[in-house]
Amino acid sequence: MKCIREVAPGILSVGASDRRLALFENLFPLENGTTYNSFLIRADKTALVDTVDASVSGQFMENVAAALDGRKLDFLVVTHMEPDHCATIAEVCLRHPEAKIVGNKKTFAMIGQFFREGLSPRFHEVKEGDELALGGRTLRFVMTPMVHWPEVMMAVETESGILFSADAFGTFGAFDGNLFSDELDYEGLYLDEARRYYANIVGKYGQQVAAALAKLGGAVPPVICPLHGPILRGKAIALLLEKYALWAAYAPETRGAVVAYASMYGNTESAALAFADALGRRGVADMRVFDVSKTHCSWVIANIFKYSHLVLAAPTYNMHVHNSMEILIRDMAALNVQNRKAAVIGNGSWAPAAPKLMAGIRRAAGDSVLDEGGADSGDGGAGGEVRRDGAGVKSRNAGT
Ligand code: FEO
Repeated sequence: MKCIREVAPGILSVGASDRRLALFENLFPLENGTTYNSFLIRADKTALVDTVDASVSGQFMENVAAALDGRKLDFLVVTHMEPDHCATIAEVCLRHPEAKIVGNKKTFAMIGQFFREGLSPRFHEVKEGDELALGGRTLRFVMTPMVHWPEVMMAVETESGILFSADAFGTFGAFDGNLFSDELDYEGLYLDEARRYYANIVGKYGQQVAAALAKLGGAVPPVICPLHGPILRGKAIALLLEKYALWAAYAPETRGAVVAYASMYGNTESAALAFADALGRRGVADMRVFDVSKTHCSWVIANIFKYSHLVLAAPTYNMHVHNSMEILIRDMAALNVQNRKAAVIGNGSWAPAAPKLMAGIRRAAGDSVLDEGGADSGDGGAGGEVRRDGAGVKSRNAGT
């Protein structure tokens, strides 16, 4: 059955939710699915802004047909070529042979890589600032490369100021019947997932996100239509603009600490928990503790984006660092996480390598890692190493 909603007069939401997908990008756990948003503009001419993932193509095609209501499709606007949005381009083009495909030079290079249907005669290329007049509605294009792929562009509908923001301002999470952020508790239901989405999907490209925000010129759109999650209206817009400015600068949202540990037999865990407890006794508020072998690192990364301080604790493993911690610290480096105050607790019974490795990686990323140096040859001659944080708290080697 069709599932379409009016975003504004003549602009309809025609996307769909997917609750079956377990891992977004086959990587990030989804507890409540995701949406693939798409919008049909019905002015004198019609334009479909993006398509959807193949998994919801049936619902999407039904929605588009209902929204067109017998009219032909004049334009398919492609703001992003990642397959969760572009997978059904060929099918749309097959059903609507008259439709021109609107994209930029990089969009069209990728369409050539993804599809063999000979779509190039239908290309309508746009550049920065170009406008597409639909008669009563006009789209102006803003190039926003690397938010999150090189070809990404946003579109502003000039009459209303509505922003079609591609991946930006999106979030994990399917629709529960409500489509707009002001129809639901956005901060309570979606903000944590919006942060996890940003940190893990777009987090690497803070500089480019800042450039995109600058291009929007401080204008606050009345409505933001992202490709994932609720359509933003009301106070969620200011909330997300504020968060995006912080996230793009790798600046913490709040003072507090993430304590992330890996532990083989519970001894590093014991040290990490004792450390967190000591921090709490010394007045450090707002802490989150994660066992990185148990909690998917996308949630840990999201919390690292949120908080000002970070404690990493792990045993040495194969002259390196425990694999679960290695995933986290490599992911932090890949995502350009920086500007945190970090402390490192390492453990190792005979050749401790973990602390130096963790501290080195975080220092290279620009974190301030307080280091008192040297190995703690305490309990039973174990060679664990201990670092301090700004609160001057020191933990003991506890064996692996
Ligand atoms: Fe939702 Fe970068 O694709």
